[in-house]
Formats: sequence, C-alpha cells, structure tokens
Amino acid sequence: MARFIEELKKSHGAGELRLAHQGEEVVLMGWVDTVRDLGGTQFIDLRDRSGICQVVLSSENLSADQLEIAKSFRQEFVVAVRGEVIARGGKPNPNLKTGEIEVTAKEVALLNRSKPMPFQIQDEVDTGEEIRLKYRFLDLRRAPLQRALLMRSKAALIAREHFAAEGFVEIETPVLTKSTPEGARDYLVPSRINKGKFFALPQSPQLFKQLLQVAGFERYFQICKCFRDEDLRADRQPEFTQIDLEMSFVTPDDIMTICDGMLKKMFKGILDVDIQTPIPRITYDEALTRYGVDNPDVRFEMELFDITADTMGSAFQVFSGPANGGGLVTGIVVTGGAKYSRKDVDGLTDFVKTYGAKGLAWLKRDDGSFSGPVSKFVDEALSAALLDKAGIKDGDIVLIVADMDPSVARTAAGRLRTHIAKKEGLVAPDQFGFTWVTEFPMFEKDAETGKLAAMHHPFTSPRPEDIALLGADPLKVKTRAYDIVLNGQEIGGGSIRIHNQEVQAEVFKALGIGDEEARIKFGFLLDALSFGAPPHGGLAFGFDRLVSIMSGLDSIRDVIAFPKTTRAGCLMTDAPSEVDEPQLKELGIKLI
Ligand code: AMO
Ligand code: AMP
Repeated sequence: MARFIEELKKSHGAGELRLAHQGEEVVLMGWVDTVRDLGGTQFIDLRDRSGICQVVLSSENLSADQLEIAKSFRQEFVVAVRGEVIARGGKPNPNLKTGEIEVTAKEVALLNRSKPMPFQIQDEVDTGEEIRLKYRFLDLRRAPLQRALLMRSKAALIAREHFAAEGFVEIETPVLTKSTPEGARDYLVPSRINKGKFFALPQSPQLFKQLLQVAGFERYFQICKCFRDEDLRADRQPEFTQIDLEMSFVTPDDIMTICDGMLKKMFKGILDVDIQTPIPRITYDEALTRYGVDNPDVRFEMELFDITADTMGSAFQVFSGPANGGGLVTGIVVTGGAKYSRKDVDGLTDFVKTYGAKGLAWLKRDDGSFSGPVSKFVDEALSAALLDKAGIKDGDIVLIVADMDPSVARTAAGRLRTHIAKKEGLVAPDQFGFTWVTEFPMFEKDAETGKLAAMHHPFTSPRPEDIALLGADPLKVKTRAYDIVLNGQEIGGGSIRIHNQEVQAEVFKALGIGDEEARIKFGFLLDALSFGAPPHGGLAFGFDRLVSIMSGLDSIRDVIAFPKTTRAGCLMTDAPSEVDEPQLKELGIKLI
C-alpha cells in the first residue's frame, strides 16, 4: 500500500478511460463497485467520481501475494490498481462510457476496508430517505447525487464568473446579526457575553447589501447561506443558499438584464440549452389573470378565461351570484377532456376544494353541443363566451370555478391548470419555461389578523406614481419588485429599494410599525438612508431551487450535500441536540 500514493500517483479517473488510452499504463484509485469471480479470474468495477471502469485481476498478471490481496476485495473497499488499458476481450458494455476497454491489473493494493453497506450504492435505490440521510456520506456516493453536486459547483462558478465580469465585488456579510424581516421566524443564537440577548441568523443579507450600496460599492454579489425557521416542503430548507446581488443607480430592467445573462450562461454551460433572452416579463396582475397564480408555469397554454360579465344574467345562481356580487367566474378548457369520467371530475372537484373553492362546474362539448349537469343553464351569453372567449371545441371539457372572493376562484383555477398539465403530461421533462413577474402589490392583508404585511419585504420601493397612495389606499400600491419564475417555481426575487428615509418611514407606518419600533429594529437602516443613500436595487436567486430544476431532481434536498429533514433536523449528526446544563447556565438560559 505504501508504494501507492507515495510513489504511484492516481493517473486517471476510472470513468475517463477510452479506447484512445489503449496500451497506456494507468494508476487508478477508488471504490470497488462490484466484484465478479469467474473461475480464478476476478473482475471488479472500480468507481470514483468520474465513473466506473472494469479491472481484470488474474494470475497471468499478478503474483501469488498480489492475487491474495485482490481476492480480499469486497464491495466499497478502497483499492489502488496499476495496470494496462486494453480493448475488451469480450463484448463491449454499452451501458458504460468506458465499456470498450478494461484495465488488466499488474499491481494492486488495499487502501481501506469497509463494513457491509446499509444500502447498495446504485443510481436508483428503494431504501427509505431516513436511512439514506443517516448515512448521507454513503448516499452521496451514488451517481445522481454526485452529478447534482458537480452541477451545483459548476453553476456557482459560472455565477461568480458572470458577476465578476459585470464588475460586481463579492463581499461577505455577518451570520451573527439582527433579524431581517423576510417573513419567516428567526433562528436565534444566545449571547454568552451579553446574557439575555440574542443574535438572529440572517433570513437574507438584505439590509447589509443595501448598506453596502450606501457605502458606495455599487455592485455587490455573494453566494450565501440564509436561515429561515418556517414550515418545510420539498422546495424549502431551514438553511438554504442564495446568489445575492445588489446594484446602485439602476432600473428594474438593468437588474433583470444582468440576471438574464447569468441564466443564459448557466443553462448553456451546464445543459447546453439556449435560453431566449430577454426572458419575457409579465405584470403580477397579468399573471393572475392569465394563470391564476404569481408563479406561473409558462411551458403550456391552457390559460384562464374570465366569464364573469357573461354570467351576470345566468339562471345558474352558482355563477350569477359571484358575477353580480364582486366575485369572479373563471376556469380552463382542457383539450380532449371530454373523455373524463364522472370519477375524474369528482377528483378534480376535490382538488379545487383544497384551495377553498366551493365546487367545480363542468361542461363537455361534443357534436356541437354542451353536455353535463350544468348544460341546462347554458344560455346564449354563456354559450358564446365558452365558444369564443374560452375557445372550447368538440372533444373538450370546460372546468369553471365561481367565487365571491376573486382570489379564491383564481387560485383554485390556477392550481387546477398545473395539476391537469401534470396529469395529462403536457410538459416534456427537459423543457424550461422562464418568466419575470413584475409590479407586485406592496402589501397583502393577513387573513388572520387583518393587518397589512409586506408582500416582498418592507424595503421594496413603491412605483413612484403610487407613493401618494401609501397613506390613502395602501392595498392599491404597486411596487418595483420582480420575481423570476422557472417551470412554475419562484427561483428568485428582488426589487428596487426605498432610498428615501421619509418613504421608508411611511411604509413602516402602513405596516403598523411605530417610530419607536422602527428605530429599535431598523435604526441603522434609517440612519444610513439619511446619509446620501444612492438609488439602488437587487435580487436574490434561490440557488438550491435553481440547481434542482436544472438537474431534474424533485427536491432541493437532492442538491444539498447535507440537507435537513422536513422536521428541520439532521439525521446524520443528530442536530439539533440537547446541551449540557453548565453550557446553558453559562448562557443564562433555563429550559421550561
Ligand atoms: P426571497 O425571500 O424571495 O427574497 O428569497 C429569494 C429566493 O430564495 C429562495 N428561497 C428558498 N429556497 C429554499 N428554502 C427556503 N426556505 C427558501 N426561501 C426562499 C426562493 C426565493 O425566490 N432579500 C430578498 C431578495 C431581494 O429582495 O433582493 C429575499 O431574500 O427561490
Ligand atoms: P349545486 O347547485 O351545489 O348542486 O352545484 C351544481 C354544480 O355546480 C356542481 O357540479 C358543483 O360542483 C358546482 N359548483 C358548486 N359551487 C360551485 C362554485 N363555487 N364554482 C363552480 N362550480 C360550483
């Protein structure tokens, strides 16, 4: 063993060898993927980060001692091999990139043993995620996860190169800091030196990057960790990574253009996919009208229609009630959907009910007429609307949601749209659909408390023409905020910020944050805004989400080396865990 590593260096990646290497002597080091014993001759698949290569261990080329060592090789042992690349004697293996060659070993060494594996290191395993997360270091040996993390590394590099070339400087910001209001709960860190006081881990570097603009850096970027204590889902982790940027003296268009450039380079460099830029932009209002949601999946059409005006005179109360009472009657036409059974439609009705809809009306179109329980209510106005506006054709079904609350009807129809697209296989797995969504409202009403909350964050600049509405009609205020959406997922968001102290104070007031509270929480920001803050704005990409979509993996956990479970814990390290009594005492903390 000593000879390897000290004298014989690893010369190639196992997965790199091709026919062109025939006749070369190579030194390989890696893991034994599989062992096959064919009457005296052993074949091992040797695996490393680059892939797999077949190695032949036979008495023809190895001394008796060496053969003994080779015979001891088991799955996942770490081994070294010196040998010659030869064209395969038998048939090439079309499943391996190295399938046309093999390496005949002339010298071998065992670098380390392994206990039997808790699960097989294969591309697809049916072992539960809990076991895999407990042994994450083994799970990460699997090729799909290796590929995902290599892709992630490359994506980070392309981002760095892009922003550096555009004149951005990378600046780190603190992790032990004060709360930044991004809408989640904070993770708190107790201070030993200042007993009874706590740091908050940043939900994002938002305020620091704004302060860096006040400091005159003009173009900042950072690939950084953010921490949010919120309910977790497949696309949310308690700590996640942002590609964060901020610029001075810019418009939303400048920022979106810079971001388009990064995405273009990333998709070309990693997937060889050409993104059409500029990425299309639609306003928030348009997104809601056409897709029902603010994170539309634009890979397929099936857009929402609005037949509110056409159903005001309807004898069907379910439609005319909302239509005349400030509500909305909307829905979608599913091409070929006339094939749906009663059971299918009942399933869809249950689906929209989870979004608060009271029901789902449907009509099929066949042989030039409408059928279904609601067909008796199809009057002239509705018929014309369904044919002309909604565009229903023979063989289709129209699905309609009516509600007194327009947002309920819209959300239900919008979610139904993506649900059906998935069910009908309307999107190819390697299709990418980007859109910017712009001009978000400044505030939304919290359903429980009835209080106003910032839709993005309270540092987002209103559109200049809407500033006057801040006091009078805050829910009407639109902002200079924008989200970037990919395949129906929000992969980034940003805005032009408020750089004027008075406007910032007014926004705090609208949010019910009094002068005193604003001083305590954001005094440093208000201070900074009063010392010559330049107009500025920026954006943050959710890096994990971006990479998971690029790699075609469902969960962002698959592109994070050591992710947390949906219970916000790490099964490998057992964090979070209890701490000793003296440690708590030192921090002045008593558990209740
Ligand atoms: P925002 O809160 O929209 O904006 O976050 C930016 C992007 O980060 C991703 N993201 C997450 N990814 C994984 N797990 C999470 N828990 C999680 N939360 C958010 C999303 C989101 O689009 N400071 C602002 C940016 C700005 O205004 O410049 C911010 O953090 O993809
Ligand atoms: P009902 O009058 O409650 O028997 O409902 C008649 C049909 O209208 C059923 O197919 C219901 O699913 C549907 N429906 C009920 N409420 C709504 C609604 N708010 N929007 C759309 N369809 C509805």
